Amino acid sequence: MRQALSVTSECVPFVKTGGLADVAGALPHALAGHGWELRTILPGYRQVVAGLKRPKTVMTEADLFGGPARLLSVMAGGQSILVIDAPHLYDRAGGPYLDASGNDWPDNAERFAALCWMAARLAAEGIPGFTPEVLHVHDWQGGLAPVYLAEMGARDRVGSILTIHNIAFHGLAPAAMRERLRLPASGFSQEGFEFWGQINALKAGIVWADRVTTVSPTYAAELRTPEFGWGLDGVLRGRDTGFSGILNGVDEDSWNPSTDPAIDRFKAPAGKARAKARLRKEFGLPKADGPLAVVVSRLSEQKGLDLLLDALPALTDRGGQLVLLGSGDRKLEWEWQRAAQHPNVAVHIGYDEALSHRIIAGGDAILVPSRFEPCGLTQMYGLRYGTVPVVARTGGLADTVIDASPVALRSGVATGLQFHPVTAHALAGALIRLCELYGQPKVWAQMQKNGMKQNLGWGPAAADYATLYAEVSRR
Ligand code: ADP
Ligand code: GLC
Repeated sequence: MRQALSVTSECVPFVKTGGLADVAGALPHALAGHGWELRTILPGYRQVVAGLKRPKTVMTEADLFGGPARLLSVMAGGQSILVIDAPHLYDRAGGPYLDASGNDWPDNAERFAALCWMAARLAAEGIPGFTPEVLHVHDWQGGLAPVYLAEMGARDRVGSILTIHNIAFHGLAPAAMRERLRLPASGFSQEGFEFWGQINALKAGIVWADRVTTVSPTYAAELRTPEFGWGLDGVLRGRDTGFSGILNGVDEDSWNPSTDPAIDRFKAPAGKARAKARLRKEFGLPKADGPLAVVVSRLSEQKGLDLLLDALPALTDRGGQLVLLGSGDRKLEWEWQRAAQHPNVAVHIGYDEALSHRIIAGGDAILVPSRFEPCGLTQMYGLRYGTVPVVARTGGLADTVIDASPVALRSGVATGLQFHPVTAHALAGALIRLCELYGQPKVWAQMQKNGMKQNLGWGPAAADYATLYAEVSRR
């Protein structure tokens, strides 16, 4: 097997805040079928280190940005992972990026520079049994690894790929931190990692990696525009052919309607009615004639759920209902709790994996009104469970849902609804369309069936990544 190293700040089943963890957790399995052994390197957050059984120390660092560190190697969760044990950076209560009160950790620049430094050293030096040909880094947290690789003189031996999951986060640090972050003076320029007078870790990755990818073809096109590029569109346009979109897959084992323990083995759409009745009961919702729409999401500006607050009457006035599971932005949490005073709206603020399965299984439709969405996973979960997606026409949402246009309906290929522009009015229009389609049982059942037949697994993406790995490899 050829060998590669995945550099990520989160990965299931160890630590997750969003879809990046799902993707990082799925890639090793998916690539194994293409002749690549992909190991993952992760920061040793408190909860990650605490769960390791009999780890082996494979590398040490006397001073990893302010303290000693060990690189631990261990088999866990069915994969071989490498964990950076550096208590001064990671052994604390709180999340991977934020403290308990929701503020960025003040030393995030060092914390993820450390991830990149250890990844680059591992790739440059190798350890017994593992000498990766390729570094596959994710988001800004992995962005500095290709720079360090070059600084360590290993760029002619190890190829590198950056995957952008979300361009909204750049990993900015003050210029004065350049030396502390072990970055070369020559790199602090417009052609390098400088960005409006600061250090930009994501830009470093874009410039230094051999190839850049993002998680859907439409998002790749959008990222080249000022509207979606967050100031990096020019750099990405400059990358030309070295930048492409590879659509994420979903984990077909954990999101499988015929084996899902969270929903008692129903076969959608046949078992939909039962799962729906249970969901209504769990949330104390009355019976209703309209569709039961659901949302499972982080509550952030990106996800457009403020628009849904405004558009909601279009659904509830037509006998529809809504169940929302989400957490994040305090103001949005509060506003959604207030919205739940409506008898046909139920809200659970929090993060709950098992509940997310019951909700997606029991819903008629899943709503994803994102302002931007690099890929999005929940609309694909919906497709697998006969839960019709209603999505903003953007990024990966545009690439995974076939809108119920007249021609698509006539040809029997529609799988959901898209709306555009991403406004409360357009979303309300989509909710009205949803209620109309739901009122036509034959058309509705056809859409459910179409969705459940979609090929949403990791196969095609794994093949594309394997091709890229081989292209950037120096061997
Ligand atoms: P993003 O990564 O931008 O949050 P994705 O759709 O790619 O969006 O991935 C989100 C992942 O997190 C999905 O697996 C989704 O089911 C999960 N998720 C989001 N919010 C919650 C929640 N409140 N409870 C449980 N799972 C959630
Ligand atoms: C990011 C994006 C999301 C994508 C996920 C996995 O969190 O917001 O759209 O699905 O990464 O690639």
